[in-house]
Amino acid sequence: MQVAVYSTRSYDRHALERANAAEGASGHRFNFLEARLDASTVPTAAGADAVCVFVNDQLDRTVLQGLHDLGVRLVALRCAGFNQVDLVAAQELGMAVGRVPEYSPHAVAEHTLALLLTLNRKIHRAYARVREGNFALEGLLGFDVHGRTVGVVGTGRIGETFCRLLTGFGCTLLATDPTPNPACVAMGVQYVPLVELLARSDVVSLQCPLTPQTHHLIDAAAFASMKHGAMLLNTSRGAVVDTQAAIDALKAGTLGSLGLDVYEEEASLFFRDLSGSGIQDDVFARLLTFPNVVVTGHQAFFTDDALAAIASTTLANLDAFAATGKAKHPIDV
Ligand code: NAI
Repeated sequence: MQVAVYSTRSYDRHALERANAAEGASGHRFNFLEARLDASTVPTAAGADAVCVFVNDQLDRTVLQGLHDLGVRLVALRCAGFNQVDLVAAQELGMAVGRVPEYSPHAVAEHTLALLLTLNRKIHRAYARVREGNFALEGLLGFDVHGRTVGVVGTGRIGETFCRLLTGFGCTLLATDPTPNPACVAMGVQYVPLVELLARSDVVSLQCPLTPQTHHLIDAAAFASMKHGAMLLNTSRGAVVDTQAAIDALKAGTLGSLGLDVYEEEASLFFRDLSGSGIQDDVFARLLTFPNVVVTGHQAFFTDDALAAIASTTLANLDAFAATGKAKHPIDV
């Protein structure tokens, strides 16, 4: 199949080319494009049977209609989340949508743990200080994770893996999820309503998808019900957190620390080098001024193992569509 690959970076290209050249691979023809897919870049899909897209590509009704008019029949997501696709429009147009439901829950869970430990032990500040020859410890005080309470919002693949990592620390694990996970129950996780989780947790970690129900799930009211000085981690999707409410809670000193790998307006920032041009987003820039905030640019997934798994599952989606007209891992409305 002819595939237009959007938001391509060198590592995407390398992983897809390697998987496509492997023995037994179908040998799809990739057109690698650095541009993001949106209404303005739709014409670059001309001649493609499928588009291969990432988290910040836009697949609203207008874009899908434009792709359909060009003959595109498959949207192959290189990610697990699918909040960027208008699934109803895709279904009405008869377009298949496939995703990579699981590539490495370990990659994201381990990165979430890295954020937790970095913020708690102030590694980001210690790193800068030591390089300046400043070995003072004031301001670097942390706490033992052992004996603390960690609340996990969403215990699917990533949430479960995160809980499993935390069992090694000897902390109390709380979770909230409309569908409790028996594996988590078996490892001692207690399911409680969100409001109780927020009130009891020293660390709250978000591992749920972005849906209309989880949009701004952590808003001003949620921040108000969190334990004073608690840590919030978000490696799910940016819009699960109301960023302005987070800034207000940081300014008030009620939110102890914030670790983000995702940001609700990340599409205009992440996956590119803006070091020479500056940041236009004032809300994001304000976040970066807090010493107790660590932001990574949507890199939780970014391990060698995860990239290889994303590439092979994407090829499996393309192969299945070529053979049956359906992706191997379809998303149904
Ligand atoms: P999953 O589908 O296995 O699990 C999601 C869980 O969230 C499910 O158990 C579901 O019942 C639960 N959930 C849904 N609504 C909820 C709510 N209102 N409150 C609490 N729980 C709720 O998904 P997986 O693989 O664990 O991924 C979770 C999310 O992580 C993805 O949807 C994606 O947005 C994000 N992600 C972020 C990455 C990164 O690089 N930062 C990489 C991969 C995924």
